[in-house]
Amino acid sequence: MNKAKKKKTAGLIVEIILYAVMLVQMLYAFFGNIPHEILGVIFFAALLCHVVMKRWWFKSVFRNLSKKAPERIAADVIILLLILNGAFLAASGIGVSRFLFPKAVFLQNPELHRVLATSMLTLAVLHGGSSMYIHAKKKKLTVLLALIFAVGAAAIGLFLVPYLDRHFKKVSIDYEEAVVGVRLPYEELSDTAAVCFTRVGNTDFEENVDAVSGASLMLASGKLTGNAGLLADMIHDIAGCPVKQITLSGQKYPSSYADTVTAGGRELRTQARPEIEPVDIASYDRIILVYPLWWGTIPMPVASFLESNDFSGKTIYLVATQGSSGFGSSLQDVKKLAGGAEVVEALSIYCDDVPKARETLYEWLRSLSGKTP
Ligand SMILES: Cc1cc2nc3c(=O)[nH]c(=O)nc-3n(C[C@H](O)[C@H](O)[C@H](O)COP(=O)(O)O)c2cc1C
Repeated sequence: MNKAKKKKTAGLIVEIILYAVMLVQMLYAFFGNIPHEILGVIFFAALLCHVVMKRWWFKSVFRNLSKKAPERIAADVIILLLILNGAFLAASGIGVSRFLFPKAVFLQNPELHRVLATSMLTLAVLHGGSSMYIHAKKKKLTVLLALIFAVGAAAIGLFLVPYLDRHFKKVSIDYEEAVVGVRLPYEELSDTAAVCFTRVGNTDFEENVDAVSGASLMLASGKLTGNAGLLADMIHDIAGCPVKQITLSGQKYPSSYADTVTAGGRELRTQARPEIEPVDIASYDRIILVYPLWWGTIPMPVASFLESNDFSGKTIYLVATQGSSGFGSSLQDVKKLAGGAEVVEALSIYCDDVPKARETLYEWLRSLSGKTP
């Protein structure tokens, strides 16, 4: 094989690796975070090789612009967009990384990362299509195929990835490892109770739900557990605070995550107050309210709890878990519903980080108990 042919083959292999890694990265729900981060680094290393191999492009891009054919200009624009997109994707990848770059928390927005990954895949498909177009005999067919594949790529990122994430992501953890650890002296927070709302206990789950545990559920040592439920258990283990569950007394939520999202949205729109079992918090001055963010605020059963208790003179600490929205508008909403209470935003924990949140909770509870080392 001569040198030029070898170079061409190497270039083709790198391109195949790039497309394959991009597609595999979209299957995050099946492979989990660590392989995703490692593959991400491999992707950018391969991308760098690709850019070095094609470095001649940088010299040619602005040369003889006026004489360039429109398809060449379009292809160059796509490459420029790809380079920009790649830079932002790398930055957002580092920002959301929890394994390889745990300290780089400057851009913790998984949704933005997914959108940038989607546009990268779509532009990469268009880039492949535009290179083929230049040499293709059947130009119209090439354009049509490139557009179909580009729409397919966008659909994978925008619809298939969230769908897989919600329905197929299996999180299996060791309950003891996640929840049990160093404790604070229990008497320090004896005036504090944790009140928790979570899907588990408030949902009519189908028999096989543990096979598709979804975004908000995990198997903790084989037992189905919700994110907020696990956080409340950690608070109990660290500080000894009793955990009181907000439990629906009427109709429960549907088994499917998507149907629960719809039901939660409907309840928010109609400002429903689902009926709940009584929760007695009279003897506590401080309440740690642990809840998942639903449609950017508290789930409506939490509103039922807040309206059915007297909070005068009490402090409510908000511990939220969410899929990207921080606290949303929960601070303002809880303030409105829990008249007389001081309401404080304490911690908002991204759903995937819940199993590893004990240390964060410990540090916060230690500051709450006024204890210093
Ligand atoms: C009905 C519903 C609405 C949701 N809305 C939001 C939202 O607006 N913003 C967000 O970041 N996450 C949202 N999520 C994701 C949950 O907050 C997240 O998965 C949380 O960790 C679930 O906790 P749980 O297992 O205790 O239910 C929503 C989930 C459900 C079921």
